[in-house]
Amino acid sequence: MKEMILVLDFGGQYNQLIARRVRENNVYCEVHNYSDEIIDKLKTLQPRGIILTGGPQSVYADDSIKCKCELFELGIPILGICYGAQAMTYALGGSVEKAEVSEYGKTELSINDDSQVIINVEKESVDWIVPAKSRIFDGVENNSVVWMSHTDRITKVPEGFVVTASTENCPIAALEDASKNLYAVQFHPEVVHTVEGKKIFGNFIDICGCSRDWRMASFAEETINQLKEKIGNKKALCALSGGVDSSVAAVMMSKAIGKNLTCVFVDHGLLRKNEADEVEAVFKNYDLNFIRVDAGERFLTKLQGVTEPERKRKIIGEEFIRVFEEEAKKIGAVDFLVQGTIYPDVIESGLGKSAVIKSHHNVGGLPDHVDFKEIVEPLRLLFKDEVREVGRQLGLPEHLVSRQPFPGPGLGIRIIGEVTADKVKIVQEADYIYREEIAKAKVEGLGQYFAALTNMRSVGVMGDGRTYDYAIALRAVMTSDFMTAEAAQIPWKVLNTVANRIVNEVKGVNRVLYDCTSKPPATIEFE
Ligand code: XMP
Repeated sequence: MKEMILVLDFGGQYNQLIARRVRENNVYCEVHNYSDEIIDKLKTLQPRGIILTGGPQSVYADDSIKCKCELFELGIPILGICYGAQAMTYALGGSVEKAEVSEYGKTELSINDDSQVIINVEKESVDWIVPAKSRIFDGVENNSVVWMSHTDRITKVPEGFVVTASTENCPIAALEDASKNLYAVQFHPEVVHTVEGKKIFGNFIDICGCSRDWRMASFAEETINQLKEKIGNKKALCALSGGVDSSVAAVMMSKAIGKNLTCVFVDHGLLRKNEADEVEAVFKNYDLNFIRVDAGERFLTKLQGVTEPERKRKIIGEEFIRVFEEEAKKIGAVDFLVQGTIYPDVIESGLGKSAVIKSHHNVGGLPDHVDFKEIVEPLRLLFKDEVREVGRQLGLPEHLVSRQPFPGPGLGIRIIGEVTADKVKIVQEADYIYREEIAKAKVEGLGQYFAALTNMRSVGVMGDGRTYDYAIALRAVMTSDFMTAEAAQIPWKVLNTVANRIVNEVKGVNRVLYDCTSKPPATIEFE
């Protein structure tokens, strides 16, 4: 049986990052929604450890998800995070109350390491015996910065538990019953703002006794074998965009089913300048059945007059599927549609209980009816950097593997408001200049960078005349998992050159803005 840590999801927005942190430690990890039925499943799956995630509810609310006590009696090490910590506390007889002040942001963690200390919590005057430093904080500096985001807090620990750390506003920031391998933290070790979060996950993984032998190579091999078994001699059509994800999915599929795979590349007219020809040039050289469909007009017609971002995404997603269905009919007897969906697409489209941020066109943007027997998504559980690693294992060229991502709905979501042929042209040209200058200046460390067309027109002066034209927004972010991102500090000289070139060379633009926001609170794309 595969060594695994299982994440039980209570609906927090960044829960999938927990899986990411576990996998960084070379331990396979899956995320499942919490329900009482999961307890029987756990007996079969036998994970080495369980992590309970954060979530938006209050444990004391009638309709909140409560954990069954049985979960904590399975003998499996458990780490509760935020809501997960509160759910553990509540289930085992401790108390959780609404905090007087909600805590959101960075704070210092005071780790207890003196077995004699006794803490009183405000009015209640409850005493706890504090243990020697917890194993969960092995190697973690006292006063290390952690990220808090909660409105409720634990005010009394369950019997047998001790408090292992506190912060200024949260006297019970970590607690445990080490004899039962039950650990809980109120803060979020999964986000990068918790400076020693990775160490904390590593410590929990050690407590679980994992051997840390999971590698991407084994993922690729296992997945190709599973695909072979599942698809057998049947035919599949792969939605190929030329991006990293769908290219890796296509190569995996081709290794699994060979010529029974046809890759269909749809040029929806919302691609970057020259991109369609570049993609065709790359894939014509592979031993694959490759079809290019030019559908620009068709997509633009469907998008006429549409301004709402989610509608745009859904229309583009649906139209893609319709084109694939038509191509599949021409080939005949195609049962499977293969997509390069990755984990962040799944999460942000709002599966499980997290809120929908955007319907990624290959997940939440799918129409209700899809005329294929099944959709196959071999990379559904991987993060971007993991997909790149699989690509390298499969021998894909580095320039393709390290390409910056480009969203399925393309420039459609980089043009705020209605999409028209003129606007597509503007954003294509501006983006081309931006990419050219970034390459020339050899700016490194960027996860993604692009130009977007704002829906804002403003007054400018060119030559001796007044202009009333659009503003282009430039974005560049540093990220590895695309779940969180920092705005990149592009050298001013480069930005200046780009801005000058854009206003001079792209008709219809008289202003260039630079987006300095991180994700969260913004997202990487504009829509
Ligand atoms: P956001 O804008 O959600 O983007 O911060 C995170 C990453 O996902 C990409 N993205 C998409 N990829 N289909 C895709 O295949 C989509 O609908 C989609 N929307 C966003 C985005 O480019 C970034 O890399």
